[in-house]
Amino acid sequence: MSFPGAVAYPTLFSPFTLGRLRLPNRFSVPGLTTNYATPDGFVTDALCEYLGARARGGFGLIVTENLGVHPGGRVMPRMVIIDDDRYVAGLARLASAVQRGGGVVVGQLSHAGRQTKSRITGLPLVAPSAIPCPINRETPRALAVDEIQELEQAFVRAAVRLADAGFDGVEIHGAHGYLVGAFLSRYSNRRDDAFGGPLDNRLRFLLDIVDGIQRALGRDFPLIVRLSAREFVPDGLDLPEAIEIARRLRDRGVHALSVSVGVYESFNKLSMVAGEPEGQWLPLAAAIRSATGLPTIGVGRIKRARLAEAALAGGQIDLAAFGRASIADPELPRKVRDGEEARVLWCFGCNVCLGRSARPETICPVNPAVGREATFMPAAAARPVRLAIRGSSFAALTAAWVAAHRGHSVTVHEPGPVLGGLQALRARVPGQEEVGETIEALAARATAAGVRLIRGEPEPGAHDVLWEVRGPAAARGRTVTSYDVLASPGDYARAARAIVTGDDLASAHAALVLADAGVAVELRSPARDIAVDAHPGFREVARRGLSARGATIVTEAGGEPVGSPAADPLLVVAGHDAGTRDGDLNDAYEPGRLAAAVYDAAARAAQLDG
Ligand SMILES: Cc1cc2nc3c(=O)[nH]c(=O)nc-3n(C[C@H](O)[C@H](O)[C@H](O)COP(=O)(O)O)c2cc1C
Ligand code: SF4
Repeated sequence: MSFPGAVAYPTLFSPFTLGRLRLPNRFSVPGLTTNYATPDGFVTDALCEYLGARARGGFGLIVTENLGVHPGGRVMPRMVIIDDDRYVAGLARLASAVQRGGGVVVGQLSHAGRQTKSRITGLPLVAPSAIPCPINRETPRALAVDEIQELEQAFVRAAVRLADAGFDGVEIHGAHGYLVGAFLSRYSNRRDDAFGGPLDNRLRFLLDIVDGIQRALGRDFPLIVRLSAREFVPDGLDLPEAIEIARRLRDRGVHALSVSVGVYESFNKLSMVAGEPEGQWLPLAAAIRSATGLPTIGVGRIKRARLAEAALAGGQIDLAAFGRASIADPELPRKVRDGEEARVLWCFGCNVCLGRSARPETICPVNPAVGREATFMPAAAARPVRLAIRGSSFAALTAAWVAAHRGHSVTVHEPGPVLGGLQALRARVPGQEEVGETIEALAARATAAGVRLIRGEPEPGAHDVLWEVRGPAAARGRTVTSYDVLASPGDYARAARAIVTGDDLASAHAALVLADAGVAVELRSPARDIAVDAHPGFREVARRGLSARGATIVTEAGGEPVGSPAADPLLVVAGHDAGTRDGDLNDAYEPGRLAAAVYDAAARAAQLDG
């Protein structure tokens, strides 16, 4: 039988031979650190379930998150560590969870170098040179030559442990400015000995590790190297040098390259937020593939089968890595294969999974089951009730889905014109439209569980329990808020000039919407930057969008701007989420608070009983 998705995307669903490995398709999961391990670095059931679910969902190649070859290279407090044989049993469970799900599993070997904190490692930071990472701002100690050789051995021993644990292959994490990448780049490597200076020397650490792994496991043991093809920092790696590195790796017998970009300082390029082009770095992967002839994995906001198929069929890449897309929906490949793309829970590039200010482990407002795949959906309710939810925010649609799964009879009532609560406002912002697809997917997930979506108000007496979504706080007097502008841009687009005051994402987006409509906008943020409540990637995207539309940005703005809601210039102030109230579901514009609202709603629906 041929599946509809396999007909529509024949290359994506075709098998691939990587060294001695036979991959069932071209879907891959790249390294995605989760912080799901134990504090002392052991694999947990949660991690096994997390990766197992992605294998069962159809991802053919699964590269694990970065695994620490040495505690001094720990990047997360609960990172898997592989510096001792006592970790092998847990790693074997992880490998078999993926393999039982039908996936091929590759372990990513990593040491964070200077891009961590000594309070996480419990050890002084080490790096090629004593230059602090501008983000972490902790000065590392430059490694002595014997220490470098010791760390090379740590990588090799870790690879052997992964092979002992039954992994199908290993990937050396040479990207993103971590220790191996830091040696490769002049940006972070200022040594003048055999490990610094000309490329031959900067390559030595990586090539010694490659040689060591091949000596220990044989040249046919599948070995991938991940590189940043551009680092976007002064003296950083760029494509010509990356190609040269890739050629040396090919000559050494490496089986495949995974082509990423960036270091911590240029992190916004690495995991790009909504508003950045999808598949932006595919040309870099294509250049490396064509220069080396090596199987190449491409990454960077690849979430649509159509884009992946075009890149694969067009010869840019051999495997497509779906990073955050696989966090948001572990079943993406299976749904695409079965012609159910409309049901994919689309990652909308919010970067809550990276933000981690509220919770250190991977969480996602689209997929609150992430990291608790086996335990998320609670048992059926003992006494099902009729639940009505007024409002259709992310939290509402999530609560409805969970409650319906548990046997409750659930209706979601949307009095307004569109589904999605505050995120529906965002879907109108230039560059942010994709959140609209996510809202549709959340609604489809709810209806598939039996939820009825109804336009209008809940009917009195037709339910046992009523939950209401708290939207934005009501504006005072005649004040115009960012939410007013986002809800009805047409009402305000006639102003010649507007001053938007606020340091949050919604204010930046309101300014963008007005500027897009031709209004001369000044965005005044009292803080040092704009959109300070959201992931920094959003600041970059919003700044770019505002500048392209001729808007002015003033930061650390003091004083009250002069104008009025009705006159010229139009004055817009920051809207505020309504805050929490017992008995209600919350909503938020900023993704971090949105995630908190979703998690609260899911927990509430999990406990609902008559
Ligand atoms: C939560 C999170 C954790 C990540 N952890 C790793 C990691 O452990 N190793 C790695 O090589 N890259 C890591 N990355 C980078 C991703 O592998 C990927 O290159 C990046 O997110 C871009 O792909 P995407 O747009 O498909 O998400 C991480 C990214 C995210 C969002
Ligand atoms: S948290 Fe946001 S960026 Fe991360 S996977 Fe979920 S939707 Fe995508």
